[in-house]
Amino acid sequence: MRKDYMVAAESAGLDETDFVEAHWTKVWEREGGPQGRLKRIARQDEFRLMMPYLKSLPKGARILDGGCGLGDWVLAINREGFSSVGLDLSRKTIEQLQAHFPETEFLAGDIRATGFPSESFDAYFSWGVFEHFENGPQDCIREALRLLKPGGLLFASVPLDNLRHALRGSREKPSALTSPVRFYQYRFTRAEWSRELGIGGFEVLGVHPIHKRQGVLRFLHHQFGLPYGWFFTRGLAFALAPFVPGNLIGHMVLAVARKPAVAP
Ligand SMILES: C[S@@+](CC[C@H](N)C(=O)[O-])C[C@H]1O[C@@H](n2cnc3c(N)ncnc32)[C@H](O)[C@@H]1O
Repeated sequence: MRKDYMVAAESAGLDETDFVEAHWTKVWEREGGPQGRLKRIARQDEFRLMMPYLKSLPKGARILDGGCGLGDWVLAINREGFSSVGLDLSRKTIEQLQAHFPETEFLAGDIRATGFPSESFDAYFSWGVFEHFENGPQDCIREALRLLKPGGLLFASVPLDNLRHALRGSREKPSALTSPVRFYQYRFTRAEWSRELGIGGFEVLGVHPIHKRQGVLRFLHHQFGLPYGWFFTRGLAFALAPFVPGNLIGHMVLAVARKPAVAP
């Protein structure tokens, strides 16, 4: 596990949880609502990897989206006939979702201590959330294990420690000459992410590097200075991604894991 930091001059007085909430609330305010993103979900790597497993669950199975952000995944998964709940630290984002989608269950809360009864869910997915706390992902993993029914499925993605990071060197913190920085997230290799879930009591069924195009885009930007927004950069990323191994360039790594049917 390696750490990423971000410049955070404005957040000096905030504790870690408040900082994460404030950061994401700002991100989601810029994005607007979930509608624009909904259409794209069926094409996402996460959807392709998760749906074959979800299809083995009964209709109406209860599913948690831990760190649901704009709620687009909750809405999309419910359209497939499931009963999913979106939980997020960002109270403001959740209030807006509750107002716009009163028929859907959106709740403000912390995935490390959700308050749901044990064994409430058949499946639990979480995209890019377990990495955000400096004492590591085990608090999130422990709560996920508690919430799932025996045999329940966990799908969790975290940032992949890929070739771009290796080329950048093992820099832990930006130079002391830059603005104040604070911890932002951990990155994991496939083996590390699998090991964390195993330590937490899960049986790991697969660990998949995902978002290759995003990884190539970031590589082109950081290695060669090509602006993200350029049509040329995006076209090049689109063309190159199929030829580069996911392990080297994937932006995220998604694990599929199962809570043992019988406690170990
Ligand atoms: C990278 S975003 C992912 C959002 C969404 N899952 C998606 O794929 O679009 C991380 C989200 O997790 C939320 N989050 C971070 N830590 C959390 C925690 N401990 N409990 C609940 N939500 C959390 C943030 O507020 C943010 O909305």
